[in-house]
Amino acid sequence: MNGLRLLGAGYALPANVLDNEAMTKYVETSDEWITSRTGIRQRYFCGEGENTTTLAIEAAKKALADSGLAKEEIGCVIVATSSGEYSMPSTACLVHKALELNENIPVFDLGAACAGFLYAVDTARAMLLAHGGKYALVIGAEQMSHVLDMTDRNTCVLFGDAAGAAVFALEEDAEYAYVCGTRGDLAIQVGGPRREMPMTMEGQNVFRFAVSTIPATVDELLKKTGKTLEEVDWVVCHQANQRIIDASVRRLGVPAEKFYKNLDRYANTSAASVPLAIAEMKESGKLVSGQRVIMCGFGGGLTWAGVMMKI
Ligand code: UT7
Repeated sequence: MNGLRLLGAGYALPANVLDNEAMTKYVETSDEWITSRTGIRQRYFCGEGENTTTLAIEAAKKALADSGLAKEEIGCVIVATSSGEYSMPSTACLVHKALELNENIPVFDLGAACAGFLYAVDTARAMLLAHGGKYALVIGAEQMSHVLDMTDRNTCVLFGDAAGAAVFALEEDAEYAYVCGTRGDLAIQVGGPRREMPMTMEGQNVFRFAVSTIPATVDELLKKTGKTLEEVDWVVCHQANQRIIDASVRRLGVPAEKFYKNLDRYANTSAASVPLAIAEMKESGKLVSGQRVIMCGFGGGLTWAGVMMKI
């Protein structure tokens, strides 16, 4: 089976950090409420000259450098985003231009909300198989601050801006498994074209969906591969809420340390959250060659997806 192996990763953050106290300027809220209900302590918001494109380009350059590949070797670029600067050109095309990549490769954006990066990973694999390339650049990039209603305390305190990128190699013997799903009938997290129709969300219903979906996705990947959770070094799931991760840990009966967490520092960065975590773990030496990782995303749509791979 042709699977993917992680070669390199990188991430980018805007310059502005807003702690929970800073959110009280926009809405009636408190550090106590945000911390106890979500675990979030701060988030990054884009300022002048920063947006989904600039973050995606910076993360992509770092991931390419980390992979050790030449830019000519990249055979596919996918950017998972729900907050691209333009409808056209795609954010992926702007990354393609900035990195001066080859002409004859598929390059496009993919929208599956917070599950977008993991949808994009398997789509990249399919693209490489279809087009004969060996390496894919997959990015999750979001300027969530641009789609938020800063007067809605139900949503504005939860999200942040960031990008994460990863370079994958298609290898015949790489250990790899993928699952995904969609509930189009559950459109309970809705956002429109930029600020003209800001995001709204039925928080509690998304919460219930998430705490059942993460364990189910992990179980499905284990069943598919015949592995046990003891054989998995890390579970890197979408960073939306500390309580969602805690509930998943309890349902799966695993040590909490197996689940990576960084949402206290970045909040929910939607499609960027999983690659941001992966890149940060790789940079800090937590994620090393030979480890087996489950990555798992869920979000608006509703959508969900999971990947198991050996790093
Ligand atoms: O990216 C994936 C998609 N999104 C998610 O994963 C989000 C999933 N959902 C959640 O994380 C949680 O449901 C939330 C964090 C959104 C909300 O937490 P909750 O414990 O479900 O709170 P709630 O919606 O039941 O609200 C409780 C109270 C309400 O007040 P009343 O009606 O009890 O008086 C809200 O109006 O908290 C109030 N509230 C706030 N208070 C202070 C809601 N937002 C805030 C706020 N600050 N920012």
